[in-house]
Amino acid sequence: MLQFTINAERCIRCRRCVTDCPVCIIEQKEKEVPFIRPEQEENCLRCQHCLAVCPTAALSILGKKPEASLPLDAAHMPNLDQMTLLIRGRRSFRQYQDKNVDPELLQQLLATLANSPTGINNRRLTFRLIDDREAMNRLREKVMTGLNEAAKANRIPERAAYLTNTIAPYFEQRRDIIFRNAPHALIVSAEADAPCPQQDVALALAYFELLAQSAGLGTVWWGMLHFVLATLPDIRTLLGIPPDHVFYAMLFGRPAIKYSRTVQRDNEAEIRHIIF
Ligand SMILES: Cc1cc2nc3c(=O)[nH]c(=O)nc-3n(C[C@H](O)[C@H](O)[C@H](O)COP(=O)(O)O)c2cc1C
Repeated sequence: MLQFTINAERCIRCRRCVTDCPVCIIEQKEKEVPFIRPEQEENCLRCQHCLAVCPTAALSILGKKPEASLPLDAAHMPNLDQMTLLIRGRRSFRQYQDKNVDPELLQQLLATLANSPTGINNRRLTFRLIDDREAMNRLREKVMTGLNEAAKANRIPERAAYLTNTIAPYFEQRRDIIFRNAPHALIVSAEADAPCPQQDVALALAYFELLAQSAGLGTVWWGMLHFVLATLPDIRTLLGIPPDHVFYAMLFGRPAIKYSRTVQRDNEAEIRHIIF
């Protein structure tokens, strides 16, 4: 049940909810309040656009009261210059402080992640978090020991061959090329048969990266985890990533360095204007 309810006194019959519904299931007869036919309820994407677009907070759906939403006024939104600096100034951090991120901040970042978009509003992402650096240290030891053994037994698959370059630096100089000494990791996964699992996973991490960096944290995408898990499948089981899930990961923590300026990549992207 969608629990689609309208406060008739507040509703100004503006039809905004009707016209913004992506699946066109909200109807309104002249001067009456909007409604959804029971047989149409199963077509609802549960996107809550109707609740978000209502200018008078007259509409409730899925048990969500409009008063519990954050108001969207321009004064509280980051402006174009701020967003541009955040995106231009985002860096891949590979040096971290050896301490945990404050759990309350982590909680705030993770709560916001449910707002990243997913294809057909599927939203069935799973977020796995290593929130304690001690757990990360144990994982690191397990992985590096496993990789060392795999290398000696010639069991590193060809596509993960790069990993062989990480073993001697780790054991001889304690240089951590795989985990970058990050105290935390976030692994996002989605069922492989979801409408767009790869996009959903990457978007959630891209949003997380910007959000975390806006809070002063460092992040780095963790593609190398795929090489590790291709070599050591037991680690995938240990991390609880289901075999039928698509996943990607990110390392993060309090950075041990600060970048003083942006890099200069303007005009490097190939942009072609399509003209008909
Ligand atoms: C999908 C993806 C996977 C990546 N995997 C790793 C990784 O495993 N380890 C690492 O140190 N950097 C990784 N990176 C970071 C890139 O190397 C980095 O984005 C690039 O060097 C440019 O630096 P910048 O992010 O500071 O602009 C990855 C980046 C992306 C987008």
